[in-house]
Amino acid sequence: MNTLITGTSRGIGFGLVNEALKAGHKVYAVARNTSSLQKLAIQYPDQLMLLQMDISQPGAIEALARRMQDVNLDVLINNAGMMTLGETAEDLAQSFWVNATVPFLLSQALLPSLKKSALPRVAQISTLMASIQDNTSGGYYAYRSSKTALNMLTRSLAIDHPSVIYALIHPGWVKTDMGGARAPTEVAESVAGIWKVIMSMRAENSGQYVNFKGEVLPW
Ligand SMILES: NC(=O)c1ccc[n+]([C@@H]2O[C@H](COP(=O)([O-])OP(=O)(O)OC[C@H]3O[C@@H](n4cnc5c(N)ncnc54)[C@H](OP(=O)(O)O)[C@@H]3O)[C@@H](O)[C@H]2O)c1
Repeated sequence: MNTLITGTSRGIGFGLVNEALKAGHKVYAVARNTSSLQKLAIQYPDQLMLLQMDISQPGAIEALARRMQDVNLDVLINNAGMMTLGETAEDLAQSFWVNATVPFLLSQALLPSLKKSALPRVAQISTLMASIQDNTSGGYYAYRSSKTALNMLTRSLAIDHPSVIYALIHPGWVKTDMGGARAPTEVAESVAGIWKVIMSMRAENSGQYVNFKGEVLPW
């Protein structure tokens, strides 16, 4: 099985690389800087491919799609994401680009590789903060709305491409650079749950918004 994961330098993405390697998958790990992954690459020389690139730069998605064109891609995990408390036009534009547009365009560009797999799965790492119904505390304008856009884009992909299974997964509030030290969930617990959810995704559930425990979330 072949899995591609973005944002693998640290945090949840780094944890997901470990999880996919443990499961025996060949892992294509995309990161702007792959130095934190070098040890793993030595440990898993036949299983881990490091793809050092900035997926948010112009031309990167097309280059990655070309690199993957002969690969049967079984799992795509769009994990790279950013959070800003800023509310300027630039903050909003950058958040929408990184959190919604790039995962959407990459999901589309990798469709030929995904459709080579017997059971292709796409996991978008979303957040409960994208839920309109669950938003009772306000703020986080750029982060919340860009991830809500990711949810909507993915819901349409799920309808338009029934041969691919899509899921929007909230990883929990996780102890990473983004989640901070007060977060109650360890990376290991989150990624074990996310991986279980991904591997149990079924066609009839495609387009669902769930957490790392597999519980369905309110839109
Ligand atoms: N932690 C939480 O509590 C939590 C909760 C809900 C959802 N999430 C989501 O989970 C995902 C992973 O978050 P995390 O907690 O692991 O965050 P993190 O520790 O801040 O790591 C973010 C990852 O995304 C990459 N990234 C950020 N901006 C990028 C850009 N412009 N272009 C390319 N890559 C970029 C980073 O690469 P560099 O190292 O190169 O910067 C890093 O690998 C995100 O989508 C986040 O929204 C996290």
